[in-house]
Formats: sequence, C-alpha cells, structure tokens
Amino acid sequence: MEYPIEISLTKNSRRPGLDLASLPFGRTFSDHMFTAEYIDGKWQNCKIEPYGPISFAPSMMALHYGQAIFEGMKANLNAKTGEPMLFRTDQHVDRINSSADRLGMPEVPAEIYLNAVNALVAIDKDWIPEDEGSALYIRPFMFATDEWLGVRASERYKFMVITGPVGPYYTKPVSILVAQKYVRAFPGGTGYAKAAGNYAATIKPATIAKKMGYDQILWLDGLEFKYLQECGTMNIFAVIGDTVLTPPTSDSILAGITRSSVIALLKEKGIKVEERPIEIAEIIEAHKAGELKEMFGTGTAAVISDVGELSYQDVTYTLPPVEGRKIGPMVKKLLTDIKTGNAEDTHGWVEPVRTDMLSTVK
Ligand SMILES: Cc1ncc(COP(=O)(O)O)c(C=O)c1O
Repeated sequence: MEYPIEISLTKNSRRPGLDLASLPFGRTFSDHMFTAEYIDGKWQNCKIEPYGPISFAPSMMALHYGQAIFEGMKANLNAKTGEPMLFRTDQHVDRINSSADRLGMPEVPAEIYLNAVNALVAIDKDWIPEDEGSALYIRPFMFATDEWLGVRASERYKFMVITGPVGPYYTKPVSILVAQKYVRAFPGGTGYAKAAGNYAATIKPATIAKKMGYDQILWLDGLEFKYLQECGTMNIFAVIGDTVLTPPTSDSILAGITRSSVIALLKEKGIKVEERPIEIAEIIEAHKAGELKEMFGTGTAAVISDVGELSYQDVTYTLPPVEGRKIGPMVKKLLTDIKTGNAEDTHGWVEPVRTDMLSTVK
C-alpha cells in the first residue's frame, strides 16, 4: 500500500443502545473518522481514529475563502448476505477530483479515497441501518488548511471521511418553488462541482422557500431564468406524455451519479429519455395540457423523490397523485433493489465493502 492507514479504534463505542430506526438525516455520526493530510505536495498521515472534534487555526484558509469540497455516498446492507455494499465508487472518486480541479485543489489518490471509505464502513458496519430506505451515509470532504489570509491556493489540505446512519431524506412528495430571484449556478462558475460555497449560496433562498411552505427550490439557469437546472441537491426529471426529460449536464449542473444510473435503467426498460434543455414554460404548458405526468428529483441522499407540486410565478401546479405514477416509483424500486442485492447488478455498479485493511488495526 502506497498510503498505509494507521487505525486506532474507540474504546467507548456510542453504538450500544442506539436505535438506528427513524434517525433524522445527518445528525448522528458513527464511531470513527478518517483523515489524510496534504503537506509538501504529498498526501500523508492517513489515519482512522475515534470520531471527534478537530483543531485548527482561526486563519485556516477554508474558513475564509471557501476552498472546500465534498462527496456523498451510501453503504447499504445486502438483503440476502448482510454484507455492506457500496455503489459506483469509481464515479465518486472521479467527481471529487473534478471538484478539486475546479477549486484549484490537489487530486485525492483513488487508493486513499477508496481505502478510507472501505475501511471506515468495515469498521463501523454495525452502524448501517437495516430498515428499507435507510443506509450509512458517507461524507468524504477536503478543505484548505494553510494559515494564511490571502486569496490563493492553499498549500496544505485535509481529506477526511465521516459516516452516519440515515433514514429517508423525504418521507412525502416534495413541494417545490421555482426560483425567480436567486441563482445557484451560471456558465463558467462552480455549479458542476460539489463545492461547499455552492450550497452556502442556496441557504438563504431555501430558508425563504421553507418559510413559504416549500420543501425545495427548483433552480433555473443564471442567465435567462428560463431553463430548469436542479432541484435542491437533486437532479430533476419530468415525465411529459411517455417521454422522460432531464436537463443535460453542463458546468452549471452537477453530474449526479443517481441521475446517470436512472437514465441507464430507464433506457434499458425501453423508456424514451431525452437529455435536453427544458424551459419552465414547457413544464407549465404540459401541465395545462394534462401531459405532465410526473416530476422527480434524484440524488444519493434523496434517492428518488417525487414532486407533489410546483409553484411558479405565484401559481401552484399540482401534479398527479404519486399512487398512479409509473416511472419514478418503478425506477426507485429498481435502483434500491440493485443497491441492496435484491435485483441483479448487470452494470457492475455495486461492490462489497473490502475488509483487508482491518488486519492493520492496532
Ligand atoms: C447540487 C446537487 N445536484 C445533484 C446531486 C445528486 O448527485 P448524486 O446522484 O451523485 O448524489 C447532488 C448530490 O450529490 C447535489 O448536491
């Protein structure tokens, strides 16, 4: 191993007595965390240790200039063997490095990323919830650690991974507000990266939308406020007639791994999928004509979330009841079945968690 991991396990696991059912998303963290440091142009000091606070200088660059990126993955238990499984890990490695590139940060070697994720999940296997719709959420992230007030690339970074048990992100169809004032991304920007700052920019508009009673914002393009981009932290799909539409990825849209999986599965089922610019006017017209059958968002956290209603220019458009929908619920079940070993993985997307690193535990 080029990057050996020093592993020290907790003596005080927080797991005993904890009920993993119905936990709110992102509030409970498993026993261990992974850290690697980038110093003098090299990744080093890979370690897994008990989850806990980290210390840093107030001048740490990530806090000031936002050189910070992350990923989001899930581990599921195989329903038949009980073995933990990961989904499309290669895609997540590629994406963190595409985000790193856009933010002027160093590449994370695949070996470090994959060993960290596999070792952590293997160590904290007991934290993976068994309930349907639940999973162990995995959050790899990287941030600039130079102590320096000056806008330039940091020379030092930390790459960390934490995990935590999660239930479903949304428990009912989401109500979405179409953005009219704020934008999430624009050409030449960082929309396609999982950069922390992208999410910071959405917090105020999302808070306003929440106060108005909406779950999420459907972002439109940053130039004309005309074309659909994404919905909260999900890629967006619409079913008009018998065609599934989704905007093409671009520098303003995150290339969701759930998105590409859904497109592949739908095409295999013989369903017509078009990746093309979609005007909000087209969605509204389709609704008026009774042709807007479904809308749903896709993402690792949210899996596939049905849109219940859409509000645009102060008019609310209610979509057909979820019970009668064919495509969103079907592809959600298929994807979940693949991730949990209930359906055949013909794409090689799913892999069992490796346990080889555990032999180095002290
Ligand atoms: C802005 C944004 N869009 C889409 C997605 C969905 O991507 P994925 O399916 O890879 O989780 C995410 C979550 O990762 C996101 O943060």
